[in-house]
Amino acid sequence: MKGVVLHGGHGTRLRPLTHTGPKQLITVANKPISQYVLEDLRNSGIKNIAIVLGDIMPEKVKSHYGDGSKFGVNIKYIYQETPEGIAQAVGLTEDFVNEDPFVVYLGDNLLKGGISRCVQEFRQKNYEAMILLCEVENPQQFGVAEFDKNGKLVKLIEKPEKPPSNYALTGIYFLKPTIFKMIKQLKPSWRGELEITEALQLLIDSGCKVGYRIVEGWWKDTGTIEDIIEANILVLDELEPEIEGIVEDKTCIQGRVSIGKNAYIKKGALIRGPALIGENTIIEDGVYIGPYTSIGDNTKIKKGEIENTIVMENCIIEINTKIIDSIIGANSEIIANEKGPKGHKLIVGENSKIVF
Ligand code: DAU
Repeated sequence: MKGVVLHGGHGTRLRPLTHTGPKQLITVANKPISQYVLEDLRNSGIKNIAIVLGDIMPEKVKSHYGDGSKFGVNIKYIYQETPEGIAQAVGLTEDFVNEDPFVVYLGDNLLKGGISRCVQEFRQKNYEAMILLCEVENPQQFGVAEFDKNGKLVKLIEKPEKPPSNYALTGIYFLKPTIFKMIKQLKPSWRGELEITEALQLLIDSGCKVGYRIVEGWWKDTGTIEDIIEANILVLDELEPEIEGIVEDKTCIQGRVSIGKNAYIKKGALIRGPALIGENTIIEDGVYIGPYTSIGDNTKIKKGEIENTIVMENCIIEINTKIIDSIIGANSEIIANEKGPKGHKLIVGENSKIVF
């Protein structure tokens, strides 16, 4: 079985973070979102993987994953010049897939528990395709499944105004090469894209067996800023505490906190977990790091309070107030003096400097 990771797309809802790279490289708990995807494929025994790159700085993806050997997989890169739909991106992988069954995994989807059991089921059953569904409160924002009274999957509709159920299609599809025939018949949808949802519907309509499984645990599509902050909460909720860095006496570490190699937590700092401190990061005296905060590698928090926030690598923060519910892109500097507002909610792109 082969794997296909989609790493393109528009990224408009995640600006300014996507001005400097694809959305799938945004970090959640100090790891790019698409790395969770790649590791899930590898842990399910899938080693031959194609990454479909988009037009937003694809070289950053190649420089992170290389030939895949660092991650225990073989990677082939395929370019999608313009984001004309998930099905169009999948269509580009036909030569790579060849005769094999394959999994398409959207590079911005996170799934607790992973896909191992689904991979096994797809190998055993005689399905032409299998989808993974998740019960959601806002089905209008996804592809949605409709069932007959016996629970048989009869229809898949992309972002319906009146959803027939609350079961959303996750971005994980188990497919066989028959899907390519269906993709070739597609016309652009109302959003101008070739929809994988419609290709699957063509499979159903032509009498092919399309199976489904319901997600156990959580699934997160990280399409918006709020989704990314929530994904960080979900991942940190399972954080295993581990202290590899230096923690001075008279430092207060409460709850589940993980501190990376060579990190330095100075006396008088308070870290309340779940929280993650990256490698070589310095947390100075008097700083408060609150629950659900991930601080990236090589960062200095000189002063201030930070809670429910993602701070990416190589940042400097020196504030007299508090940052909450925020995402701070890599290589940024946030400086705030006494006269600034009492708290900040910030979405800061990479390489920024903000002085209040
Ligand atoms: O996340 C699940 C949802 O993903 C499903 O419920 C929907 O049925 C499916 O259409 C898709 O909906 P989105 O509107 O969330 O898709 P989005 O445009 O955000 O793209 C999803 C991923 O695929 C994202 O990682 C970017 C990548 N992509 C997207 C397009 C349109 C590409 O690589 N190339 C593309 O052309």
